[in-house]
Amino acid sequence: MAEPIIIDTDPGQDDAVAILLALSVPDRLDLQCITTVAGNVPVGLTTANALRICDLAGRADVAVHRGAEGPLVYPLETAEFVCGPDGLAGADLPLSRREPAPGHAALAIIAALRSAPGSGLILCPLGPLTNIALAIRLAPDIVPKIRHIVLMGGAIALGNITPAAEFNVYVDPHAAAIVFGCGAPIVMMGLGVTHQAVATLDDVQAIAALGSASARAIYGMLTRPRPGGLGTAGHPMHDPCVIAWLLWPELFTGRSCHVEIETAAGPLRGRTTIDWNNRLQRAPNAFVIDTVDAAALFRRMTVALARLP
Ligand code: BDR
Ligand code: CA
Repeated sequence: MAEPIIIDTDPGQDDAVAILLALSVPDRLDLQCITTVAGNVPVGLTTANALRICDLAGRADVAVHRGAEGPLVYPLETAEFVCGPDGLAGADLPLSRREPAPGHAALAIIAALRSAPGSGLILCPLGPLTNIALAIRLAPDIVPKIRHIVLMGGAIALGNITPAAEFNVYVDPHAAAIVFGCGAPIVMMGLGVTHQAVATLDDVQAIAALGSASARAIYGMLTRPRPGGLGTAGHPMHDPCVIAWLLWPELFTGRSCHVEIETAAGPLRGRTTIDWNNRLQRAPNAFVIDTVDAAALFRRMTVALARLP
């Protein structure tokens, strides 16, 4: 039976690829709804982009709920310098005629978890964790219904938005602290692994050769000019790693660790301190992924994406 999931997202090109990957495997993943958050671009645009991506995949049936306008405490900082003015540079997609579904993203997450069967459902946050933190604070009773939170965020080594911090955790570190402290099982895809998930020229050409509208959009996003590039030769597919772990966990390795979030303003804001060697002897709060077989990842992704229009 397909696993029920919710994707919480700020598309963003790599978010878009992650959503398309999830939509390409309805036999494996049952996408209950998409919830949007401010991050790469403001939430009006991330919501419009989520709708555009569902349309591209021929899945206008997927509800998209608009969520938080900004982080819990800090003012919003966005990343147009990486993603372009609308967040989806290179995709060349028309605007959707659909409206977002009624109800705030955090309330949609609460409702979905409360009505989920006993085994609950899986949350897949691909942006700042604001909506997830709001849902947990508004309704702590949902935590036991969270089967897993598989998230993209954090870094074991250098950050990408500051020397210390990865973008999603930097934008809303208070939300990240709430989520990492909530007690639900967390799988963390940080930059240590997502910087390995960079498509080679052959990978990109194999996707282009699919010839579909989805493949054209992905090709455009993966080959767009790269002003925000940092530390890798191509666009890292950060967010698709989340979906890929659900589909093919055997391609990844990791370790249970305690992860601490720095919330204070200053040069360490958003730093995820990962106790890889258990120096602090604190109970682990996340399974931290550190490697991926990128060649196999892109091979399998391409096979899956071939099912999309
Ligand atoms: C994360 O930040 C965003 O720009 C990407 O979509 C990804 O979720 C990488 O740091
Ligand atoms: Ca993202």
